[in-house]
Amino acid sequence: MTDDSFQRTDNRFRNLSSVRPTPASTPHPDFGFDAPFDRAGTGSSKWARATALGVIPMGLADMDLPGPPAIAEALERRARHRAYGYTVCDPAGRALVADWYRTRHDAAVDPDWILLLPCGPRTALRVLLESVLPDAARPQAPVLLPTPEWGGFAQLCRAAGLPYRELPLPLGPDGYRLPSGPLPRPATALLLSSPHNPSGRVWPADAVRALAARAAESGALLVSDEVHGDLTHPGHAHPVAVTTADPAHRHLVVTLNSVGKTFNCSGIPSSFALVPDPGLRARFAEALAGYGLWEGGLLEQTVQQAALREGGPWLDTLLDHLAAARTRLTDRLGPAVRSAPQASYLLWLDAAALGLPPAEARRTLLERCGLEASDGAEFGPGGRGSLRLNYALPSPVLATVLERLERLERP
Ligand SMILES: Cc1ncc(COP(=O)(O)O)c(C=O)c1O
Repeated sequence: MTDDSFQRTDNRFRNLSSVRPTPASTPHPDFGFDAPFDRAGTGSSKWARATALGVIPMGLADMDLPGPPAIAEALERRARHRAYGYTVCDPAGRALVADWYRTRHDAAVDPDWILLLPCGPRTALRVLLESVLPDAARPQAPVLLPTPEWGGFAQLCRAAGLPYRELPLPLGPDGYRLPSGPLPRPATALLLSSPHNPSGRVWPADAVRALAARAAESGALLVSDEVHGDLTHPGHAHPVAVTTADPAHRHLVVTLNSVGKTFNCSGIPSSFALVPDPGLRARFAEALAGYGLWEGGLLEQTVQQAALREGGPWLDTLLDHLAAARTRLTDRLGPAVRSAPQASYLLWLDAAALGLPPAEARRTLLERCGLEASDGAEFGPGGRGSLRLNYALPSPVLATVLERLERLERP
C-alpha cells in the first residue's frame, strides 16, 4: 500500500481539501424535538416496519427527530458545486475527531490513530475482523460476543464464516455487568457494544479496563463498538476504550464510532476507527482499500465535519430530550425495564413483566398498542422474552406511546 492509495494525514493534501471549513451557523434555539416530524416519503426503513396506519415504529435504531441544521446546510452547500468526483482526505477531519474526544470525553486521542471511513460501522467491523485473522490458521479461534448484543455482531461473524462464542452478560439488580472472570482462550477478538445496545448501559471505566486486560491475556483484540457513546445521558461518562485501557494493552484495542447514530444520519455511510497499533492500522487500511474503501469520502467528510464542528449544541439539546423521555418511560414501565438506560434511546424490556406472552410479545404489543418493537430473540441467547423499544421520538408522539402503554395495564 502506498501513501497515495490510502490518504493519510499529509501536508500534501492540505490545499486540496474538498470540504472547506463551514462558517458558524445561525443559532437554533429550538431544534424541533417538541413538534411532530413527518418522515413520510423519505424511504425510511424504520417507517417501512409500520405495517398499518397508526402504528408507531419503535424497532429500528434511528431517531424520529430532525438532525442538526448544520448537516443539512453543509450538504446543501456542497451539492451546489456540481462535481461529485473522487475526493482526497482532508486532514482537518482527523483533528476534528481528536478535538471532539478531548472536549466531549476528556480523552486524549492521537490524530494518527484515526481512520476516517466512507462506510458504516457494520462494514468497518467486518473488514476489521478480516484484518486480524491469522492468515492460514483454520479452524480459527472464536470471536467472543457478550450477549445480548444488537444482533449485528453474530450476523457479521456468520456472514464472514468466523466461528463465534456468545458470553451471556450477568444481569444484576442495577443492570447488566461485563464478564469478570477469565475469557475463553484462544480467541480472535471480543466485540463489545459500549454503551450497550440493547440496554443503553454505560460500562464503568474500570470494568472496560479490566476487560481489555483479560482480552489481551487471551490474545484477543478488544473491538469496542461505541456508536452510541456520544449519546451518553447527562450525569454519565462514557469510557473510550482506547484511552481507558492500560497503555500496555492499547495495541490490542480498537474503538469504532460514527456520527450516524449520534446525529441521526445513518443513511449516509460514514464511520471512524481509533486504532493505536500502527501495524493493525496499516493492515486494516489495506483490507479496506481491497473493497474500494479509502479515507476521505465526499459525503462522509461533508457530514462528519459539519456534525463534529457545529453539532455540539444540537447534541446537548437532544441528550436532555432523550433523558426526559427515558425518565417518563422508565417511571411508567418500572420493573419491566431490565437494565436502567444511561445512554442512547433504547429500552430493553421484560415482556412477561409487561403482561405480554414472551413468545409472542412483539406481535401482541403491535396488536394491543399499535407499537412496533424489536424482538429480543434477535439479540442472542437470553434475548427471548425481551423487547427493545426506541424512544427517540418527538414529545407529542412520546405522549401517545405512554397513553397506549396504559392499555397493557388493563386486562
Ligand atoms: C452497536 C451498533 N453497532 C453497529 C451498528 C451498525 O450501524 P450501521 O448499520 O449504520 O453500519 C448499529 C446499528 O444499529 C449498532 O447499534
